[in-house]
Amino acid sequence: MTAPASPLAARHDCLLVVDFGSQVTQLIARRLRELNIYCEIHPFQAVDAALLARLAPKAVILSGGPASVIDAGSPRPPAEVFDLGVPVLGICYGQQVMMQMLGGEVVRGDGTAEFGRAFVTGSEPLDILDGWFDGGREQVWMSHGDHVARLAPGFGVYATSPGAPFAVVADPSRHFYAVQFHPEVHHTPNGRRLYENFVRLAGFTGDWTMGAFRDEAIQRIRDQVGDAKVICALSGGVDSSVAAVLIHEAIGDQLTCVFVDHGLMRLNEAEEVVGMFRDHMNLPLIHAQEQDLFLGALDGVSDPETKRKIIGKLFIDVFQKHADEIEGAAFLAQGTLYPDVIESVSFSGGPSVTIKSHHNVGGLPEKMGLKLVEPLRELFKDEVRALGRELGLPDKFIGRHPFPGPGLAIRCPGEITREKLDILRRADAVYIDQIRRHGLYDEIWQAFAAILPVRTVGVMGDGRTYDYACSLRAVTSVDGMTADYYPFSHEFLGETATRIINEVRGINRVMYDVTSKPPGTIEYE
Ligand code: XMP
Repeated sequence: MTAPASPLAARHDCLLVVDFGSQVTQLIARRLRELNIYCEIHPFQAVDAALLARLAPKAVILSGGPASVIDAGSPRPPAEVFDLGVPVLGICYGQQVMMQMLGGEVVRGDGTAEFGRAFVTGSEPLDILDGWFDGGREQVWMSHGDHVARLAPGFGVYATSPGAPFAVVADPSRHFYAVQFHPEVHHTPNGRRLYENFVRLAGFTGDWTMGAFRDEAIQRIRDQVGDAKVICALSGGVDSSVAAVLIHEAIGDQLTCVFVDHGLMRLNEAEEVVGMFRDHMNLPLIHAQEQDLFLGALDGVSDPETKRKIIGKLFIDVFQKHADEIEGAAFLAQGTLYPDVIESVSFSGGPSVTIKSHHNVGGLPEKMGLKLVEPLRELFKDEVRALGRELGLPDKFIGRHPFPGPGLAIRCPGEITREKLDILRRADAVYIDQIRRHGLYDEIWQAFAAILPVRTVGVMGDGRTYDYACSLRAVTSVDGMTADYYPFSHEFLGETATRIINEVRGINRVMYDVTSKPPGTIEYE
């Protein structure tokens, strides 16, 4: 199954990225979207004449990938991409595919593999390298085993590196370009310029802006929903908040939001969400106060998966109960984002292992016979944030760190009690306050405190204490799939530990978690 081409391609200049499975394909799309270019990523298997006709791309990029073009059955784009009369850029594996398909030769990289930082030097001027080499050589990021041994007819060499004599090759008359390195990654500092040059010469006007998207999205929601009613599970997270506000702008009070308060929210969070959306933005919002139901069901439960299953099931029951009261609800709104829609290229074809079961509203639409409204399906997270700003959501909501559906339950390993949740909430609030005061909040992907199921001995004043230990976590990440711990200074950590112990009764020991993901996960359960 492939993600269908979006109708947005018909309204905007579209660039097609053919995905061969590189780890960094999404970054190509990110770089292009930053340049106000609308692009879609499609796996190579899905690119056929029909898709090309539907998208009518103004340019094509062939991504990198783990395969070797020398191997039989290795992935190829359809030959038609070279007959469209539009500029084509091949990156890494994409370069090798281009050379192989257009009559050149690629050989195995015995001893010539290059991984990591490299420096390229220009040999001839070339339009996509405009602004490169002004200061001499350029740093790039290489990651290849095989390499091009003979150029395809019509191509010339425009830049080289010590390990890649064909670092940049091109046939400028056809606007075919191919680079051995990855211009989309951070470690190719001037990569953005190369993309800018490429889209300029392809004739893009940069018509992809959040203002334009907002107007179109509103029209599409109206067309899809008509006068039916829509329900939305609002968590207060960025995605569901932006989706709800956008849909509300499109159809007003045909939308009802349900905020399920499971008693596992952070300090003052429920009041903030309800205050913001119901009182300030006038969204019809049901505040389902079900703390007793959830905490009762979790009483005595310490197994992580059992906790998740209980919360997931109750969430759906509660949501359904309230949704049933809304007569004529035909649609469920979801804040699905583009990274969830892009089909990943799998060579093994095997299913990936489930590490944890995420619940959210999975399974609800089928069960309730609802159709989905997913107005953020084409957007990346930072575009959702930009749209949120466009819609007037305050920065405090837009820049929030992710918060998991099961809430504090998975930051309280072992049995959950109201007392522990209360201690955890207060420790977490002090920690986040510290991070904000030090101006670090936006540098961190996610930060939170967890309360550990262990008491330790301490001494405060002249007395002995026997209280809980808490662990602080802060990670940097781009997508939550991998993460590294945030390198706070010792001063910051010392000051934070002192504040937590002084201000939060019930905690007498503070730890900082320096585990990356993998092997750890971001949450504790
Ligand atoms: P892990 O702990 O798996 O988390 O490294 C990766 C990211 O996902 C978030 N997370 C969840 N989000 N429902 C959600 O909506 C869940 O059940 C859930 N579990 C983890 C986590 O906060 C992190 O950002």
